[in-house]
Amino acid sequence: MTAVLLDGKQLAQTMQAEIAAEVAQLLRVRGLRPGLAAVLVGDNPASQIYVRNKRRACDKVGIASFLHELPANTSESELLTLIARLNVDSTVHGILVQLPLPPHINEATIVDAVAPRKDVDGFSPHSLGLLAAGRPHFLACTPHGILQLLVRNNIPVAGAHVVVIGRSNIVGKPLALILMQKGVDATVTVCHSRSKNLADLTRSADIVVAALGQARFLRADMVRPGAVIVDVGMNRLPDGTLSGDVDFEAVRQTASAITPVPGGVGPMTITMLLYNTLQAAKAN
Ligand code: GUN
Repeated sequence: MTAVLLDGKQLAQTMQAEIAAEVAQLLRVRGLRPGLAAVLVGDNPASQIYVRNKRRACDKVGIASFLHELPANTSESELLTLIARLNVDSTVHGILVQLPLPPHINEATIVDAVAPRKDVDGFSPHSLGLLAAGRPHFLACTPHGILQLLVRNNIPVAGAHVVVIGRSNIVGKPLALILMQKGVDATVTVCHSRSKNLADLTRSADIVVAALGQARFLRADMVRPGAVIVDVGMNRLPDGTLSGDVDFEAVRQTASAITPVPGGVGPMTITMLLYNTLQAAKAN
C-alpha cells in the first residue's frame, strides 16, 4: 500500500477562502474588520518566519495585522504593558505572542496576561480549562488544524484509537482533549518520552499523531498497516533540510494516509489562527 497524502496546503486554501468570504461579509454588514496583533520578542529566525507567514495569511483573507517587534532585552514588565494596551484596543480582536520568549521572561506570566476573549492561540489556562471542562471556546490552532485535516478527508475519528506521541501544552495535551470531546469521540492514548513499550502502543493505533520534535522518530515497524499518520514535526537536519517526526519514505509504504512535511499540518495551524481571529471579531 502507498499512503494517500493528506494535503494541508490544499485544505488550508479551501478554508482560507471560506474565512475570507466571512471576513468580507463582516466588513460589509457590520463595518468590522477583524484584527490580529502579533508580538515578536527577540530575533529567533524561525519565529520571524512563522510570524511573517501568519501576517501574510491575514493579508490574504482581509484580516488586519499589527506587528509589534521588540528587542531581545525587553523586560517582562514592558511586555506586560504592551499586552495590557492590546487587551483594551478595540481594533485588536486577537493577540498572538510568538513563543519561545527570551529566557528572562516567564512565558506563563505572559500567556496569563492575554485577555481570554483575545486568546486566539488558545494557550491560556482559561481556554485550556474550558476545553477540559467540555465547553471549548478557542481551540489551540495546531490540534484544531489536525482535527480539520482528519474530518475533511473523511478519516473516521469517532471510535478510532488515536495514539498521540507528545504531551506539550500547545499540541499533545489540547489535541487529546479535543479528540475526547463528545461528538468527536475518539479513544485517546497519550505517550511521551517516558512511556514504556511505545511501539506496542503505536502499533495498536488507527491514527498516530507524532508531535514530539524528534526527526524521523516514527519508523515503519511502529505502525499498523493501513493506519493514518499525522506528522507535527518540523526538525532542521544537520544538512539544512527539513524533516518531520515520521520516517516519511518508509511509513508511507505501510500507512493508508499520511501528512507530508512541509505542506501538512503547518498550513492548517495558520488557518485555524485566522479562524479564531474571525470568531473573536464576530463575538464583538
Ligand atoms: N511557537 C510555536 N508554535 C507556536 C504557535 O502556534 N503559536 C505561538 N504563539 N507560538 C508558537
